[in-house]
Amino acid sequence: MCIMLFVLCYISDSFSWWESFQLNDRYQKFFNWTTEVYSSPVYQVHPKLSVILNETHATTNPPPTTPPGPQYHVAFPQNYHFSLDQADTCKNKTPFLVLMVPVAPDNVEARNAIRQTWGKAEVVQGEVVLTLFMLGLSGQADVEKQQEKIQHENLQHQDLILSDFLDSYFNLTIKTMVIMDWLATHCNNAAYAMKIDSDMFLNVDNLVITLKKPELPKVNYLTGMLMWNSEVIRLNSSKWYVSEEVYPYPTYPPYPLGAGYVFSNDLPGKLVEISKTITPFNIEDVYIGMCLKRLGLSPSSPPDPSQFNDYHRGYNRCMFSKVITYILNSTEELVNFWTDLKKPGSPC
Ligand SMILES: *[C@@H]1O[C@H](CO)[C@@H](O)[C@H](O)[C@H]1NC(C)=O
Ligand SMILES: *[C@@H]1O[C@H](CO)[C@@H](O)[C@H](O)[C@H]1NC(C)=O
Ligand SMILES: *[C@@H]1O[C@H](CO)[C@@H](O)[C@H](O)[C@H]1NC(C)=O
Ligand SMILES: *[C@@H]1O[C@H](CO)[C@@H](O)[C@H](O)[C@H]1NC(C)=O
Ligand SMILES: *[C@@H]1O[C@H](CO)[C@@H](O)[C@H](O)[C@H]1NC(C)=O
Repeated sequence: MCIMLFVLCYISDSFSWWESFQLNDRYQKFFNWTTEVYSSPVYQVHPKLSVILNETHATTNPPPTTPPGPQYHVAFPQNYHFSLDQADTCKNKTPFLVLMVPVAPDNVEARNAIRQTWGKAEVVQGEVVLTLFMLGLSGQADVEKQQEKIQHENLQHQDLILSDFLDSYFNLTIKTMVIMDWLATHCNNAAYAMKIDSDMFLNVDNLVITLKKPELPKVNYLTGMLMWNSEVIRLNSSKWYVSEEVYPYPTYPPYPLGAGYVFSNDLPGKLVEISKTITPFNIEDVYIGMCLKRLGLSPSSPPDPSQFNDYHRGYNRCMFSKVITYILNSTEELVNFWTDLKKPGSPC
């Protein structure tokens, strides 16, 4: 009965993420003897979107041939395909640091603010730094118009990566794993990478200075603002509510706050690989923590933990000159604070 149920669901086009991982959870124990029936490509792009993607296809990827296997769950990044992939970017240079910014497709304002501020410099402290934006497909009615705009924006800046998952708050785990997949497959020559949200202040100089410290690990390294023994929120009105069915334990493994975390660039490939064996989970930063744990790794505290911050309590030029991250209130704040920080004269 259970098997029938999941086979039926998996061949149906129209089931939600919730259904998928609740099912996953329930039938996980059957994985070992059901892989052979797990054969149809699980997630397909809506036909309308396929046509649009076809038109906007910048690179020709081979059609997906999905072999059977439990790894083909909703967050497994290789279920998705890039229609803009900046394929030459890391062929033409070897970045020391890649800043990967997940951002909503229509949030041009945030992208422009980043392009003017921390995403602007291509060389920081003598090292090549690359800033790229990760976008999924808009759920909006006029997808076509949106795609056109994205193509146009990319012609101008050559910094957009577009994949074919539906871009929504609930799908942030997919977005993060697609970022990891891109790093592993399109930019594995980079030394370090950072996943950083579009509402962040980033003192990119301080980040590069930290990463260049000789004692800093070059592999299996991940740092940021770390959460230890963080309790699972069972209050169903919360944005971070998670049912016991989805995650049965009372606390999460150590994980970096999703707003901004930095890692050695050997990790993306390892995370993608191990994610095949881990039931998808809608809270993306916790999911990274779960993958790390399964890899036998733990995130590291930053050399100076006071440099990774969440919300700021008002702008202070001296303070902003010393930190690496702060979460901001608005895009205007980013531009204003940055402009002030960069004006001549000692900040402290
Ligand atoms: C499934 O297979 C894995 C390794 O192949 C094994 O460790 C695990 O115990 C198996 N689970 C069940 C429920 O048989
Ligand atoms: C999409 O592209 C493929 C090959 O590039 C082509 O065979 C197919 O007919 C196209 N589909 C549509 C709907 O344009
Ligand atoms: C998540 O993305 C998948 C693949 O694009 C899509 O089928 C699903 O509807 C999305 N879920 C939500 C809640 O947006
Ligand atoms: C949320 O929890 C309360 C109390 O446990 C329950 O009465 C309510 O039905 C729940 N709401 C939803 C949407 O699950
Ligand atoms: C963030 O924005 C709110 C509303 O505009 C404002 O009241 C608050 O002071 C801001 N916080 C900081 C730290 O600037």
